[in-house]
Amino acid sequence: MLNRTKLLTMKEKKEKIAMITAYDYPSALMAEKSGADMILVGDSLGNVVLGYDSTIPVTLDDMIHHGKAVRRGAPDTYMVVDMPFMTYHVSVEDALLNARRLYQETRAEALKVEGSGEVLEVVSRMTQAGIPVVGHLGLTPQSVNVLGGYRVQGKDKQTAKTLLDEAKAVEAAGAIALVMECVPRQLAAVISEKLEIPVIGIGAGKECDGQVLVYHDILQYGSDKLPKFVKTYIDSNHLLGEAVESYVKDVKSEAFPEEQHTFTMDPSLLEDIEG
Ligand code: KIV
Ligand code: NA
Repeated sequence: MLNRTKLLTMKEKKEKIAMITAYDYPSALMAEKSGADMILVGDSLGNVVLGYDSTIPVTLDDMIHHGKAVRRGAPDTYMVVDMPFMTYHVSVEDALLNARRLYQETRAEALKVEGSGEVLEVVSRMTQAGIPVVGHLGLTPQSVNVLGGYRVQGKDKQTAKTLLDEAKAVEAAGAIALVMECVPRQLAAVISEKLEIPVIGIGAGKECDGQVLVYHDILQYGSDKLPKFVKTYIDSNHLLGEAVESYVKDVKSEAFPEEQHTFTMDPSLLEDIEG
């Protein structure tokens, strides 16, 4: 199992970190079998599993429910679980109570929080309490309505400088890794170089220390509308769609069930009960 020390060693050795999201038992089985270094139980489950149009409606109970399922499917892979919207902003005390539940009940290896600023104290207090924290900067989907949409962050000099400062601050607060979402590769490269902890990019170019993508996006399973930074490896919507249609057709045409799907008995035994 990966840990903080091994993560730092991977970065030193320039060994790329492969992270993938998972939300339930089958996706966790698949992620663990793939040899991914880290699994993220992302609050993107709001979008790709629950059908919301953002991560904002996702609750702590949702994350616990899905985190437990992922743990059952991937007992031996480093599992990071997202702290959802507003579960770490009300007060440090509230954040720690929520973190305790999420960490203990899912048996995650680490929790992830978005942002910098006031969140830094939470990162530091969680770390002191013994909970490894992964940061998340750049496009932070829980703040989509403040950021003004899903768009690339840090494109001008000022915001680029701010992002670098925030990244350093998240590291200084004790984070074990940092997710950088939707930033120009040149900026992500600088941030990766300046930090000791691994930077795991999503839409942040190849110079990051690792990459993360959403399970459903890799498989094109669910929405067909995918962001530019996604690489799709199979068109599940098409392939699974055909399979499911075939089943329905087989039922209608009586092509299913066949003998091999059927249980039998001696029909004479039914003479009595048929009357
Ligand atoms: O929720 C999620 O899937 C994430 C990744 C996109 C980094 O936070
Ligand atoms: Na997330």
